[in-house]
Amino acid sequence: MTVTFIGHGYVGLVTATVFADFGNNVYVIGHTKEKIDNLKKGILPIYEPGLSELVKKNLGAGRLNFTLDYSPGVAESDVVFIAVGTPPISTGDADLSTVLSVAEKIGKNLKNYTIVATKSTVPTGTNKKVQKILESVKPKNADFSYASVPEFLREGTAIDDTLHPDRIVIGTNDKRAQEILIKLHEPIKAPVVITTFETAELIKYSANSFLALKISYANAIAKLSELLGADGVKVLDGVGMDKRIGNLFLSPGPGYGGSCFPKDVRALISLGKDKGYTFTLFEDVENINYQMRREIVIKSRNILGDLSGKRIGILGLSFKPNTDDMRDSPAIDIINLLINDGAEIVAYDPIAIENAKKIPLSINYAKDEYDCAKDADLLILVTDWNEFKKIDFKKIKTLMKKPNIIDSRNIYDPENLKKLGFNYVGVGR
Ligand code: UGA
Repeated sequence: MTVTFIGHGYVGLVTATVFADFGNNVYVIGHTKEKIDNLKKGILPIYEPGLSELVKKNLGAGRLNFTLDYSPGVAESDVVFIAVGTPPISTGDADLSTVLSVAEKIGKNLKNYTIVATKSTVPTGTNKKVQKILESVKPKNADFSYASVPEFLREGTAIDDTLHPDRIVIGTNDKRAQEILIKLHEPIKAPVVITTFETAELIKYSANSFLALKISYANAIAKLSELLGADGVKVLDGVGMDKRIGNLFLSPGPGYGGSCFPKDVRALISLGKDKGYTFTLFEDVENINYQMRREIVIKSRNILGDLSGKRIGILGLSFKPNTDDMRDSPAIDIINLLINDGAEIVAYDPIAIENAKKIPLSINYAKDEYDCAKDADLLILVTDWNEFKKIDFKKIKTLMKKPNIIDSRNIYDPENLKKLGFNYVGVGR
């Protein structure tokens, strides 16, 4: 089949490349000349493990075409996916301006019969707006069906998640579109949920919000465990062994971040508000989440007292490991709060430093974890990159001014670190 993706972010580029790898002829349309020129040479605008190699392979095979031009991709395609960003606006609602403007460009370039499908996370009801635009601008003889095909991949494991999803959701009542979309997804072995646009859109928001809720639950239990003198990690392990609950997404930490959970929780609250429903459950999920970032600063004060003039090393800046994505990363809030208290910050991240530098943070960057620990009064692990799991703590201890560590992801063995002479503080432990 011929397939077009509008957008080359974590969703668009990964899904497009995987579909090209299945043997489809794929167009990826962007709007920045420099990025498209780079993509044609195999230089990616994002970091995602394994993606660079897969893009190069499919570029070489001639199945992946990067372009600024909506024709011929849209005109030739069986399916056109909208995979552009829907960042939050101040009210918490998703900003649909890019989705709606690309819908207009797609509509104008339609020819024959094409399925237009949204992969972007959009609030329930967006389908009607997109369909209206497509209908009003399309050439007279062009025909289209519209579908919502939400994406469930995670950054850092995006290729594997695309190849092995838990389900494929196809939101359209149109039988012809259902058949084509099922055929396109045939190489992926996963249950298919066929439903309406509205239900598909709400499945995506509800799934992300439930995962966010699970994390806030884990963080609240961790906090209570600290207050009661219980081992929160063991409590959550014990809870997660119940198959009805499951042990995934139950790790306490500095709170969830990224471009999805924070935005989607806010959008769900806002969707409720629009219909007169106050979603207090998710207001609490958000409050608990942002409190976790403040908790790290409270723990720092408990260890060091006045933070003014204290040197604090931050290990990890991205919102999770294996990505360069800094959007709504807990590290940003934690660093700014520590700076407000007068601390001097030095930070290190294996991949995200270049993206971090685009955010105005008054900090210094270290060249590795050891450089980050030099003369530090306190080391705070914020992102659980694998390379931080293998740190030589004997060496770290000789470098630090004071051997204090806050392990916000509970990746270290507290007993081991205590034996080495560290003052160790985890989350919920
Ligand atoms: C999330 C969802 O997991 C995907 O299914 C979805 O497709 C994606 O959003 C999206 O809407 O595009 P992502 O944000 O890439 O994926 O990453 P996650 O692995 O879900 O992590 C999100 C945040 O939760 C990270 O900050 C992570 O550190 C945090 N987290 C995760 C915890 O604090 N504890 C956990 O137990 C799990």
